[in-house]
Amino acid sequence: MCGIFGYLGKQQAYPILIKGLKRLEYRGYDSAGISIFNEKIKTFKCKGKVSDLENHILQGSTAGTMGMGHTRWATHGPPNNINAHPHKSQHGHFVLIHNGIIENYSRLKKKLLALGYRFESETDTEVLVNLIEYIYLENKVTPEVAVRLALHKVIGAYGLVIQCSDAPGQLIAARKGSPLVIGIGKDEYFVSSDVTPIVEYTKKVSYLNDGEIALITRDTFSISTIKDKKLVPVFRQIDMEIGEVEKGDFEHFMLKEIFEQPRTIQDTFRGRISKELGTINLGGLFEVMPRLVNAKRIIIIGCGTSWHAGLVGEYLIEEFARIPVEVEYASEFRYRNPVILEDDIIIVISQSGETADSLAAIQMAQETGALILGICNVVGSSITRETHCGVYTHAGPEIGVASTKAFTAQVTVLTMLAMLLGKKRKLLSEASYGKFISELQEIPHKIHDILSDNAHFKSIAKQYKDVDNFLYLGRGYSFPVALEGALKLKEISYIHAEGYPAAEMKHGPIALIDENMPVVVIAPKDDSYDKIVSNIQEVKARGGIVIAVVNKGEKNISKMADHVIEVPTTNLALMPLLSIIPLQLLSYHIAVMRGCHVDQPRNLAKSVTVE
Ligand code: F6R
Repeated sequence: MCGIFGYLGKQQAYPILIKGLKRLEYRGYDSAGISIFNEKIKTFKCKGKVSDLENHILQGSTAGTMGMGHTRWATHGPPNNINAHPHKSQHGHFVLIHNGIIENYSRLKKKLLALGYRFESETDTEVLVNLIEYIYLENKVTPEVAVRLALHKVIGAYGLVIQCSDAPGQLIAARKGSPLVIGIGKDEYFVSSDVTPIVEYTKKVSYLNDGEIALITRDTFSISTIKDKKLVPVFRQIDMEIGEVEKGDFEHFMLKEIFEQPRTIQDTFRGRISKELGTINLGGLFEVMPRLVNAKRIIIIGCGTSWHAGLVGEYLIEEFARIPVEVEYASEFRYRNPVILEDDIIIVISQSGETADSLAAIQMAQETGALILGICNVVGSSITRETHCGVYTHAGPEIGVASTKAFTAQVTVLTMLAMLLGKKRKLLSEASYGKFISELQEIPHKIHDILSDNAHFKSIAKQYKDVDNFLYLGRGYSFPVALEGALKLKEISYIHAEGYPAAEMKHGPIALIDENMPVVVIAPKDDSYDKIVSNIQEVKARGGIVIAVVNKGEKNISKMADHVIEVPTTNLALMPLLSIIPLQLLSYHIAVMRGCHVDQPRNLAKSVTVE
């Protein structure tokens, strides 16, 4: 979603802001802009990419050591030069950048119109900046107080950075529902919607909480609540290196992240499993383990890829720990008046830890007494702070909009959790528990093996890059993989793709099958192998093209399928960690061959912080 980056220090702000905005490009955006303070505030903005903004500014003077930049993902009003941020107030006192949505903006706008304010853009943001100015001029208060008073009148979500032309050397930032982090360097400060643009300057940060305002000047930094209660800032060290947010030798972040998976899965289980001792240890859940072990029901909540990981989690937990699990889309759950019992365990899965619907689902569940756990990747993110406890996935920053390594890390955590619960509930023998741990440790090597077949996946991609539709089929653990494979393809290549439980095909989708329809069938040698063989025959009988993902050495399906992708054998419960890899690469190559912008697909945002 929109990106925010502000700078106040001794260096020239412009190059720092542009670099910062480029680091935020992965969040998804359609226009960009910056404001720089040098005697007065100069603003440049335009539709398009940050590079378009640079071209747009070519002739402009950008001197100044304080400024802020924004990448906008349109909500109110289409992407164009006028709707792009920053927005300036009518009399020029304030300039503002904003992530989020001001829900009561039209009522506020009406009032401001009646007071003589005129608006250039269609945005809710311009309403807010004018409201701040109106309060500032009317009440003759400081800029910070004007911001505070204005925010009392606002309903909605925001991450804001504000400059006032009467207050040189001062940045004001405020947060409610949209993340903001402040980086503290030597004689310089940064404000950002996430840490990726900050990491190359400083590792010392302070996260703003909902309802907090930060006042940053050249030599001080203070935080207070919107109700003006002074707070002591809490500082943290970010554990991230600059290399993690750069592409290195890879053409795209997505490709880099797919190839990182042997390491990221290892990072997810490092220190948590021991082959020697035959143990799994999830430190973040230690204190709540008795409650988890005796759980009567688990509800897993997520969106998109995280929801797919949750579905794998359902199959795992029900199979190994025999606890009933329900998997819910956060956006449905939060609005459909679900039954949440006091002794329920809720697990919220989110890469970013900022997804608005998942956060809202947590807030709803908070009143019920249920225990709420998070499985998140971004350290310090909102979901990690709103849940009672949880497990970090430790996959490192995921920059490509299409989630890859986050999925396998989430599944790794869920697998460890299911096994641990199975063991503690005395449903798994010592021997099978130990065997399982050894198998999990082998997964990174096996993924290496799959990645070495990349050229083969590319050659398949070449043959089907121009089709209009794809179908993905799987049974059992392979069904969520089919859904995830289809999502990967549609989001980055814009080919329509559907994932289906293989046996459901004859209840509808079979009508779609003809000689133009590639059908990806995930068919490991599991209990339903014979049934999936029949499904493949049904597709072939109707002229469909079968791309089969099978275990190494498989003979039967290999004779029927048009293309065979082999993956190593493993414990069946671990198959999703292997079978998703070729599907990620197939989508990647198809998208590249179609000339799509793989890392920033159209209309998509990396973290969806609005409803
Ligand atoms: C798909 C994708 C999205 C996210 C979804 C949830 O590749 O990235 O479907 O999985 O928006 O995001 P998080 O996991 O950050 O809550």
